[in-house]
Amino acid sequence: MKILVTGGAGFIGSHTLIELYKAGHEMVVVDNLCNAKEKSLERVSSLINGARIPFYKIDIRDREGLSSVMEKYKFDACIHFAGLKAVGESVAKPWEYYDNNISGTLVLLDVMRKHGCKNIIFSSSATVYGDPAQIPITEACPKGRCTNPYGKTKSMLEDIMIDMQVADPEWNIVLLRYFNPIGAHPSGLIGENPNGIPNNLMPYITQVAVGKRPELGVFGNDYNTHDGTGVRDYIHVVDLANGHVCALKAIERNCGLAIYNLGTGHGYSVLDIVNAFERVNGVKIPYQIKPRRAGDIATCYSDPAKAEKELGWKAQFGIDEMCRDSWNWQRNNPNGYED
Ligand code: NAD
Ligand code: UFG
Repeated sequence: MKILVTGGAGFIGSHTLIELYKAGHEMVVVDNLCNAKEKSLERVSSLINGARIPFYKIDIRDREGLSSVMEKYKFDACIHFAGLKAVGESVAKPWEYYDNNISGTLVLLDVMRKHGCKNIIFSSSATVYGDPAQIPITEACPKGRCTNPYGKTKSMLEDIMIDMQVADPEWNIVLLRYFNPIGAHPSGLIGENPNGIPNNLMPYITQVAVGKRPELGVFGNDYNTHDGTGVRDYIHVVDLANGHVCALKAIERNCGLAIYNLGTGHGYSVLDIVNAFERVNGVKIPYQIKPRRAGDIATCYSDPAKAEKELGWKAQFGIDEMCRDSWNWQRNNPNGYED
């Protein structure tokens, strides 16, 4: 298939390009580089036999720019990663999040339909379940209250796309609800490249390991979990990338609307991750218990059975590979894509 990949220079997008290439697809990337470097695409190219993926530095809110790319390539489908994703920043800058994520996606969807491309895979998040009504979380679990503008943009965009699919059944819309992506390509050439102080657990741990930060703060040890720290469903980014390749199968069989959790189905606490990282990599991670972080929930992990049954997708990598590859990337690239 010929696929438009928005946000393809970012963390999950760059890994997905490799898996799409391996599956024989043709890709074009649109990214405004607000949270990525073009170097990630050069590295991707080096991992796919030097093949070049056409890249356009375009903001998805730029209707004319997007239209000209659509006109040129006549895509079969779009995988839509582009979006702002920092929870704390979204609380401080709600307008910017609603404008980028909601307005951007509305422009994208409109340009797509005007060019007769009505197939989209959307990066959603387990955050739409709020404080989940059941554990493990199936796709039938009702959506919950999101406590921050970032999460609300994901939930609203899901609703917008669902309404569009009802109104026009020619649309095939796959909503992928990611759990907690970590890890990196095993080559160590591409990985997560956060700006400033990392919000998420694994990049924080790797920055402690590489000596950029003195210690990890563990946000709360009084949750109702096996060791009191928060439990999440961490998934290797290469597995997640493959989930998108498998999701194209749903589009090929005209799925209409389809929703899938992409997780492993296993829950690990913060301290489980710290211990696994130390054991696998032989690096010490000093930490200190801190108060709970506002908006955090105790436990969140998926039931990923639906994706296995309907897409033939199942996570292959375990927590050891996730810790190994996260560290391999950080150790080889202490400053990410910066020289
Ligand atoms: P990322 O920031 O690395 O990638 C997003 C990419 O989109 C970046 O390259 C950025 O430059 C680009 N972008 C942002 N706004 C744009 C715009 N207006 N026009 C064009 N390009 C734009 O993030 P990621 O971790 O790769 O996440 C990809 C998607 O998955 C995002 O939509 C994110 O919300 C979603 N998601 C991520 C996680 C996670 O923990 N990483 C979890 C659930 C969902
Ligand atoms: N944590 C720490 N210290 C840190 C960072 C995180 O103890 O420095 C803890 C958190 O309290 C939580 C766990 O590690 O218990 C995971 O936290 P992350 O910030 O890595 O991930 P979250 O589950 O909070 O959120 C992530 C994404 C969201 C997404 C959500 C659900 O950041 O965008 O998963 O998919 F919405």
